[in-house]
Amino acid sequence: MIFRQLFDSVSGTYSYVLASRTGGEALIIDPVLEKVDRYCQLLRELDLKLVKAVDTHLHADHVTGLGALRDRTHCVTIMGEQTKADVVAMRVADGDRIGIEGLSLDVMYTPGHTDDSYSFLTGDRVFTGDTLLIRGTGRTDFQNGDARAQYDSIFNRLLRLPDETLVYPAHDYKGDTVSTIGEERRYNPRLQVRSVDDYVSLMANLKLPNPKMMDVAVPANMRVGLHQEELAKQGLSLSARQAIECLGRPDVLLVDLREASERAKHGTLSGALHAPYPAIEDSLRPGGMLREVAAATGRRIVFFCAYGERSAMAVNAAQEAGLANAAHIEGGLDAWKKAGGPVVAGLA
Ligand SMILES: [Fe+2]
Repeated sequence: MIFRQLFDSVSGTYSYVLASRTGGEALIIDPVLEKVDRYCQLLRELDLKLVKAVDTHLHADHVTGLGALRDRTHCVTIMGEQTKADVVAMRVADGDRIGIEGLSLDVMYTPGHTDDSYSFLTGDRVFTGDTLLIRGTGRTDFQNGDARAQYDSIFNRLLRLPDETLVYPAHDYKGDTVSTIGEERRYNPRLQVRSVDDYVSLMANLKLPNPKMMDVAVPANMRVGLHQEELAKQGLSLSARQAIECLGRPDVLLVDLREASERAKHGTLSGALHAPYPAIEDSLRPGGMLREVAAATGRRIVFFCAYGERSAMAVNAAQEAGLANAAHIEGGLDAWKKAGGPVVAGLA
């Protein structure tokens, strides 16, 4: 496995690049906006293709690199389903898996620091965000933090992992880089409490100042979404209402860009073709599946995904491939469902 821990000294943030092989797909956890050039350089040097960028939670101390990485690499942005960030391409929940070539992260919902805090487990290591830090825990006094929930996330989820599991947090301010579950159980001063009530009172008495960047970072991180208005101006967006009216029309080819697991969980649209987003460029090339189907049938391609992010990027990819009239459903299946559109069971 390729594994890189990168540090932003301004915010004390750790970001992680993971891949299974040189020349393969990569994933990044908790990227920082100011470091995006550095990540892109490293990805080039290691010959990696960034396909997914994940935030453990909505950060209050730095601006996320998710939006910039999406714009630069066309990767899929991911956060938990509770997040208040306006649009992320894929929202995950406890028990889901985030997969890239040769690697998979188990998604664990570990609220407490915020109500959208997640941890990700892969092989011998767990990425704990700000839920569990090295000899510390993330504060619980804003962003719907809840010390009781955090106690549960730590004691009943994270500390139940094998003792030797490596702990990689989102921050460290002392220079530590990695710990283990066993080490934290024994030596983390915040975890030497007798009960959940002890933990709640300990967290209530920390009296920490607000993070310096909070007033900038929180609003900025709620607006990482791709601006879909540009496509609407070009006539390449259908609102959910307009899309519902197109259902079953012989001149429209609906294309579902989501992963099989998302289709199985949330359903799909009647008659939609499945063409997963990561392979969209190949599919749009001359000789590619979508290109051929569109040419053979003369139908207009209308992409959709979960929230309209991947489909907006697919419209751009189609334009670059010479299919100027491909469109997408603004707001994705989420908007479609909210507008009362019918959904059929999606075969995985
Ligand atoms: Fe945080």
